[in-house]
Amino acid sequence: MRRLALLLAVALAAAIPLAAPPAQASTPVVQATAPPMGWNSWNRFGCNIDENLIRATADAIAAKGLDTAGYRYVNIDDCWMAPTRDAQGRLQADPNRFPSGIAALAAYVHNKGLKLGIYSSAGTATCQGLPASLDHEAVDAQSWASWGVDLLKYDNCNNQGRPAIERYRAMGDALKATGRPILYSLCNWGLDSPWVFGPNVGGTMWRTTGDISDSWGSMTGILDQQHGLEPFARKGGFNDPDMLEVGNGGMTTTEYTAHFSLWALLNAPLLLGNDLRSVNDTNLAIVKNADVVAVDQDWGGSQGRRVRDDGDTEVWAKPMSDGSAAVVLFNRGAATATVTTSAAEVGLGGSSGYSLKNLWTGATSTSTGTVSGSVASHGVVMYRVTRSGTTLAAPAAGTYQVGDMSWLASTNGWGPAERNRSNKEQAAGDGTTLTVNGTTYAKGVGVHANSSVHLWLGRACPLFTAQVGIDDEVADAKAGVRFQVYGDGKLLAYTDVKTASQGPTTLTVPTAGYATLELFAGDGHGGIDYDHGDWGAATVTCTSAGTGTYASDLAWSSSSNGWGAAERDQSNGETATGDGVVQVVGAVSHVKGIGAHAGSDVALPVGGCQRFTAVVGIDGEATSAAASAVFSVVADGVTLWTSPVLRAGAAAAVDVGVAGRSTLHLVLTDAGDGNAYDHGDWAGARLSC
Ligand code: GLA
Repeated sequence: MRRLALLLAVALAAAIPLAAPPAQASTPVVQATAPPMGWNSWNRFGCNIDENLIRATADAIAAKGLDTAGYRYVNIDDCWMAPTRDAQGRLQADPNRFPSGIAALAAYVHNKGLKLGIYSSAGTATCQGLPASLDHEAVDAQSWASWGVDLLKYDNCNNQGRPAIERYRAMGDALKATGRPILYSLCNWGLDSPWVFGPNVGGTMWRTTGDISDSWGSMTGILDQQHGLEPFARKGGFNDPDMLEVGNGGMTTTEYTAHFSLWALLNAPLLLGNDLRSVNDTNLAIVKNADVVAVDQDWGGSQGRRVRDDGDTEVWAKPMSDGSAAVVLFNRGAATATVTTSAAEVGLGGSSGYSLKNLWTGATSTSTGTVSGSVASHGVVMYRVTRSGTTLAAPAAGTYQVGDMSWLASTNGWGPAERNRSNKEQAAGDGTTLTVNGTTYAKGVGVHANSSVHLWLGRACPLFTAQVGIDDEVADAKAGVRFQVYGDGKLLAYTDVKTASQGPTTLTVPTAGYATLELFAGDGHGGIDYDHGDWGAATVTCTSAGTGTYASDLAWSSSSNGWGAAERDQSNGETATGDGVVQVVGAVSHVKGIGAHAGSDVALPVGGCQRFTAVVGIDGEATSAAASAVFSVVADGVTLWTSPVLRAGAAAAVDVGVAGRSTLHLVLTDAGDGNAYDHGDWAGARLSC
């Protein structure tokens, strides 16, 4: 027996995973596929709330058809609780404002087909000085669950300086432990990068800024802070630029229309903040515009973002899941202005014609590529743009230097994006040899943030590669560029913010089946000054046109994994399904892919497909010297490709033909030293079929 126990102990020790136990709450407490919609008491009523207001608001939501428009959550903000806990240490409702109690209110709201939200703070008191939940997480979560609460907004006041991730994780774990689905809304005011830790503590949404107020300056100030956060939103995890002010009286109808349009474009949670008992028809019509709400609710693969910034006028765009694009032309200036972009700039391009629907007037029109509108001061024109013509021919098979290809369109922060030389800021051709920390590139693109280069792939090019970084022509600490690669407007992969004098990062991005590719270089910090970015040796490899499918979107024929489950579109968190984080391979974050742990075999049906493309490596979450693995691609018993032993930080590209094969096995083995720490990603894994 002792021998057996010893053997077992040795066997277990050999398979010990990461030293720290994986966090419990890394999946959202509630899986929401679209940004939450509803109402919250704070913006209009502050502490002036009671159960009659909440009931009357629920009545109004139902009576005015806001429920069928999608608004479901009725959220009580701060000031619902009594000034002291009860004898058992439980929060209790304020007996004057909520004499019937929260459970009765939840029942009332549920009876209308709506959901009830509540509020607390990850501190010793709420922002208004009432009892809050730090160190009372379990008992408070239990109270809310027993009352039938459906959402928690969790604020950050009076936090005692304790680390945010721990405070927010404690509540995420407590909510999960109740067994009731309670959507978890983090109100961390953009501090400590909630967009990074939010998904790991069970959050469905996280505040990106301080509080909104009912003014043009506040609304546009918050909008400005959204630029650059788009890589961190995902289906089921939404950036929250704070609640809506539509109808509160501090902005004009034109401004409220802009506010609502832009929030919808950002895939923001849509939480009304006005008095719904007395909302007028104009404001009701804004928030009930079904075409605009549909833009908000559609996770087309990327949060919307600013694609053009011409000072007073801007263009914001997002992909829709049907292949169209939503576009907001925005005019901050004092006079009416014509705002113009192109189909290519909004992620389309390559078609002889487009149809446009104006989402505020309902008017439809056609275009050969220009997307333009006369936009009132402080207003928007919002379109949905769809390809309707014949598309360009695909590039012939071969590998192309992006610096030598023709581009659909390009925008650049200073001067033009330069072919095969650095940006140097002014006239075309004023740059020198592309150089990143001493490494030179004869070919590539030299840009200045914010910059986009749009290419036509014609669904025929399965692989994009480049070496990216800040060009040596700038050394200033303000230089900071994040490189982001988009296919058909959807974010595929992104780097950390690259700064001056750092070595280049290799970008390897599977792109099978995408019609267009966008190379986006965004300001990473400190404004766009000094942001000279190089896409060194940027190439696309084209084969033949086909449909692209992610391995992580297929039904797998079988799968096994060394620890926990093989994960879809996240790394292997080792325990429960869905407990991983964004896959990072070779210092590049990949939105799609399979996250495995050595001792893994994922089988994919590949009948009818031509190629399999991925970038593989040890996930950035495993930094130990013991992390090492070998990746093999095996088809119908034949090994098509095997990686060298890959250790932490290293990555390899795989691009193999699979024509005539029926089942592909993605096999991950330890490299002979046991499987401890062997978190291996098949990042971006994609089939061309
Ligand atoms: C903070 C939040 C607001 C609101 C108030 C309530 O300021 O950011 O949204 O909840 O607290 O006190």
